[in-house]
Amino acid sequence: MAQQAPQQAREKCILAYSGGLDTSVAIKWIDENYDLDVVAVCVDVGQERQDLEFVREKALGIGAIESRALDVREEFVGDILSEAIKANSMYENKYPLVSALSRPIIVKKLVELAHQYGATHVAHGCTGKGNDQVRFEVGIRALDPTLTILAPVREWDLRTREQEMEWAIERGIPVPTTKASPYSIDDNLWGRAIECGVLEDPWVEPPSDIYTLTSDARTQTSDEAQYVIIGFHEGVPNALDGEEMSFHDIIIAMNELAGKHGFGRIDMIENRLIGVKSREIYEVPGALALITAHKALEDLCLEREVLHYKLGVEQRWADLVYNGLWYSPLREALAGFIETTQKLVTGEVRLRFFKGSCVPVGRRSTYSLYDYGLATYDEDDSFDHDAADGFIKLHGLPSQVWAAQRRKVGKEGEI
Ligand code: ARG
Repeated sequence: MAQQAPQQAREKCILAYSGGLDTSVAIKWIDENYDLDVVAVCVDVGQERQDLEFVREKALGIGAIESRALDVREEFVGDILSEAIKANSMYENKYPLVSALSRPIIVKKLVELAHQYGATHVAHGCTGKGNDQVRFEVGIRALDPTLTILAPVREWDLRTREQEMEWAIERGIPVPTTKASPYSIDDNLWGRAIECGVLEDPWVEPPSDIYTLTSDARTQTSDEAQYVIIGFHEGVPNALDGEEMSFHDIIIAMNELAGKHGFGRIDMIENRLIGVKSREIYEVPGALALITAHKALEDLCLEREVLHYKLGVEQRWADLVYNGLWYSPLREALAGFIETTQKLVTGEVRLRFFKGSCVPVGRRSTYSLYDYGLATYDEDDSFDHDAADGFIKLHGLPSQVWAAQRRKVGKEGEI
């Protein structure tokens, strides 16, 4: 009797799985179109919808050969958010980089699992219009260029949600029974990003039902101000009101506290890497409050030239992270500079929250560079007033020489 040839094992694909319609359809689509076994991976970076066990099992039900739920919150805080706070992470001076910060850790886990399972492919559920596809793919290639990347949502021709639902129903993939939210939401410990629906008209005020972390400062917040003291050790928050706490727990507590006072909403037009301007709403109560406090402490502890130079480094750092270049030598080098600046950023900042505002009203540190004797106008003044006279003469000398020359040729005040 002829021996049956052993069946060739299929190659594997690691899929970044969220449990939503797109990535659920992707499980079957990859199986059908690429003839690959799918290992679904759901990564917990502190998003609101926390039932990861349900999500994990859903992937198995659809046909993934394996499904993993990874809690990476501590690593996210330790490796990524700690650097973000030191860098005062802010793209275009407004957006604290919520989604951009979670991608590097997700990418790292996808590649680790690809190695663990001997997978040849890695897939993500990003569309072809956003920044996230860039972040996933640039990151994956930086960590392992031999992996083949699949982007089903970008590749398939399921143009509308209806077509996608139909495709799913035909294959027994569970589809959402409630009317789908018109918004696209991505969230993690550092905040929430909300896009699409009516928000695509930049003139329309965001409806109040999009917010989950922040109260409406006009109608829902307390009439009394609340104060809180944030402690920092070498640039990273380590205490609340004098009580030591992990940075992770401080983020959670500050999301709650700042959000309750209606602080942390951002409505902006943002420049995506792919060249599109988009209207973005963010809810970042904790992140924004902590960055505000961190900057206030830096004002006290950083020498002027370092502080000024760092502003430029921060902007470059934010551009790199936004543009998917976390795993790049320049980001790492800038992070080295930033790290050095934080050695003496240890101390406390007192914040006041009231009706949508967060204001630093006090700061103190063992390493404070604030010198009362130099700053005061009282009798304790130790500043050398005589030195000011000579300093000002030399400081203004170049422009004085220039003005004299213009006068000489009859062009006074003209360039
Ligand atoms: N525009 C923001 C960014 O590029 C948010 C992206 C949110 N992603 C999403 N899938 N809704 O970082």
